[in-house]
Amino acid sequence: MENTDPASDESATFVVVANRLPVDRIVNQDGEVDWQTAPGGLVTALEPVMKQRGGAWVGWHGAPDEEVEPFQHDGYTVEPVPLSAEEVEEYYEGFSNATLWPLYHDAVAFPEYHREWFDAYERVNQRFAERTANVAAQGATVWVQDYQLQLVPRMLREVRPDLNIGFFLHIPFPPMELFQQLPWRRQILEGLLGADLVGFQVPGGSSNFLRLVRRRTEHKVERDRATVNRNGDHQCVARAYPISIDTQSFSDLAQSDETKAEAEALLEELGHPSLVVLGVDRLDYTKGLRQRVRAMGELFAEGKLDPHDAVFLQVATPSRERVDEYRKLRDDIDLLVGRINSQVGGVGRPPIVYRHQSFPRSSLAAMYQIADVMLVTPLRDGMNLVAKEYLACHSGRDGALVLSEFAGAARELRQAYMVNPYDLDGMKEAIMHAITDTKQNKRRRLRALKKQVAENDISKWADRFLSDLDDKGQSVDRAKAPGEPSPSMFYVDGEQTS
Ligand code: ADP
Ligand code: F6P
Repeated sequence: MENTDPASDESATFVVVANRLPVDRIVNQDGEVDWQTAPGGLVTALEPVMKQRGGAWVGWHGAPDEEVEPFQHDGYTVEPVPLSAEEVEEYYEGFSNATLWPLYHDAVAFPEYHREWFDAYERVNQRFAERTANVAAQGATVWVQDYQLQLVPRMLREVRPDLNIGFFLHIPFPPMELFQQLPWRRQILEGLLGADLVGFQVPGGSSNFLRLVRRRTEHKVERDRATVNRNGDHQCVARAYPISIDTQSFSDLAQSDETKAEAEALLEELGHPSLVVLGVDRLDYTKGLRQRVRAMGELFAEGKLDPHDAVFLQVATPSRERVDEYRKLRDDIDLLVGRINSQVGGVGRPPIVYRHQSFPRSSLAAMYQIADVMLVTPLRDGMNLVAKEYLACHSGRDGALVLSEFAGAARELRQAYMVNPYDLDGMKEAIMHAITDTKQNKRRRLRALKKQVAENDISKWADRFLSDLDDKGQSVDRAKAPGEPSPSMFYVDGEQTS
């Protein structure tokens, strides 16, 4: 990793607070310390924002029981927050990823509720808030990220009312019927209400949130803002800011000679198939991998796809491997892929090429380049940046994006071939439609999709959020997010009104 100079003592006027730092500290096989890019969409999205703006990034460095000094990285200060092994188990693997993660994703896995996990969540959120309070300059803008840190806005406001506090949730915010299961629902709502501006991926998230505030707290809700009467009044505005990627830099990377050479080498390795279907995911049960692999397996088994001509390349980066549901998923996918490959095709390259590993971004760009059809079929997803990365990187004119209607990205990427991932037959039909559609149709759809991602990139997202935060949400009535309902549409006593 470049730039590991010690940090200066100056406080920062712009601070990002996230569970993850952009880099993870790892100890390699020779016992040497190394740093590698942390997994997931949050880092992909926020790294370019920090590189451009500078400031400080407060987060965990990925290694339990280790204290790391602040250092400089890519033009900003990294402020590592330590977690003990027990906290990793209870706050990160437990409350964040075995309670909140499944609950917020339509309960596609069973959320577990344990009081000691919530205690750890509170304790760790307090630590993040304290560290942030120490590094933020007077009147600084602090941007707290994601479901692991929902108590931080309020904790921070209590000690530093001078700060401008924003919060952005990268994952879906669930409907009231699900959220109400949470024994600590009130603490979470009050935690978020500590922010001046709470951002969600889609308008449904902000309306779910405001509906809950109205039902479960005593705060007054008007239009898209709640008036919070504690420590002096402040208003908390909730609205949608669909996140994106650094479109230009993905596109430049895909166009580089190195990536083109890598794409050629990959095609060679795959035996120059006439059709490449691609999946790129963190190995997570929300991503719909079981259903996707089954659908592709059936298309091969039924002879709709010829394994000599077509290949399904699926790469899945390891994720949260100590959480039970993730272990189970890993075994299930290994088994499923193995079974399909042993039953379909000849002795040559298998129809499904599956790699359970993380790849450098340049290799992903090469994969996106050669993919005729990109499958993005989560059961539920806040946004899904992989869909946008494909559109930024695929330069051929005939690519096709198959997209789940349950991904946040579906609100913007309307020209994709939409699927309900629970409907296997429907998904198979949509995949075949994407494969066999006329060139003219494919080009028309791809052109519109690429334009959407080119025009709505990560800097636009950050600018919109931060300028609304700067004027404390006063401007939110002026500009709506794409597809956002009119701000005068909100929930009163469970009914949507306008
Ligand atoms: P999530 O935030 O749930 O991880 P996203 O689709 O929004 O989902 O973001 C996933 C990010 O992880 C993308 O930037 C993608 O490029 C990256 N990624 C996914 N699979 C791999 C892989 N096998 N190797 C490296 N990066 C990956
Ligand atoms: O937004 C989804 C997200 O959970 C991010 O918060 C996180 O950084 C990423 O996915 C990867 O997950 P993890 O940090 O648990 O490895």
